[in-house]
Amino acid sequence: MTQLVDPFHRQINYLRLSVTDRCDFRCVYCMSENMTFLPKKDLLTLEELDRLCSAFINQGIEKLRITGGEPLVRKGIMTFFDGMKRHLDSGALKELTLTTNGSQMEKYAKDLAAAGVKRVNISIDTLDETKFAEITRWGRLPQVLRGIDAAQAAGLRVKLNVVALKGFNEDELFPIVQWCHERDMDVTFIEVMPMGDIGNENRLTQYWALSDMRKTLAEEYTLTDLSESSGGPARYMRLEETGQKVGFITPLTHNFCESCNRVRITCTGEIYTCLGQEGKSDLRAPLRASESDEHLINAIHAAIGQKPKGHDFDYSRQELGGQMTRHMSHTGG
Ligand code: 5AD
Ligand code: SF4
Repeated sequence: MTQLVDPFHRQINYLRLSVTDRCDFRCVYCMSENMTFLPKKDLLTLEELDRLCSAFINQGIEKLRITGGEPLVRKGIMTFFDGMKRHLDSGALKELTLTTNGSQMEKYAKDLAAAGVKRVNISIDTLDETKFAEITRWGRLPQVLRGIDAAQAAGLRVKLNVVALKGFNEDELFPIVQWCHERDMDVTFIEVMPMGDIGNENRLTQYWALSDMRKTLAEEYTLTDLSESSGGPARYMRLEETGQKVGFITPLTHNFCESCNRVRITCTGEIYTCLGQEGKSDLRAPLRASESDEHLINAIHAAIGQKPKGHDFDYSRQELGGQMTRHMSHTGG
């Protein structure tokens, strides 16, 4: 069996692929109101996305997460998911998942389940309709809630992703945790990251340290740290009173790089081997250079061979030093 191993002996078996930079929401911490998107011709075609993923799977990728932008606004995206099913069927691919804002879930939940998707991450930062419209600018909560219903009805396991924003959803910590318990969904809180030029800091994008959130949660629940690792920045704990699992993604305050098992690819075919570093290489040119995958496979190995040891985020410096110039919607979260 082929494996992808980086210079620090980390086995890379997880690929996160952004299939579009577009989105039907404009979350304040992610996008500006008037975003300029990439010209369509720069995006990998659906056929190229399939070739790319298939090559990675042949080289040892076992878990594939589709991201964006909003992956389900990409035209024809179900063709791509249907195509990936053959790798699940062959056993080479162990898991096919996506991260979505849920807006199109009502429409696609059944098809996704039929394509072999078992779990989805849906992003919701607030359960209040007015606040939801404020934070996403273009999103409407009821539509997303219908999406969650549809996903669960189709048998998909749903995990909620909540970006923790001081002064915005601090007061919803307990309601959100409880709501997830009632609906049998896991929940992961994400510290807001400094990504891209989204205009001036505003009160909706204030940093809320998850260590503070943990202390608040501990006032009501008995917390048990779970040792399981996803190979990424998420840490999990169990709330003993309800048995539910709560995740924390603290990319800025914790060092998780030693166990990193993943690479990210943008919708234009650039591979980023570390979320916190600018280092990237292009896979689109080798993909387009010939119909055979030889160039592509060489480029994949060359990129993994340059995966850096760790990330460079640094909030404490309070300057642009650690700030990423690219948008989350470009690399995929
Ligand atoms: N900081 C933290 N999370 C972000 N997301 C998008 N932009 C940011 C940011 N700047 C989240 C989305 C979604 C996931 C894909 O990434 O809300 O939950
Ligand atoms: Fe869209 Fe997700 Fe960005 Fe919100 S955070 S604008 S849903 S890509």
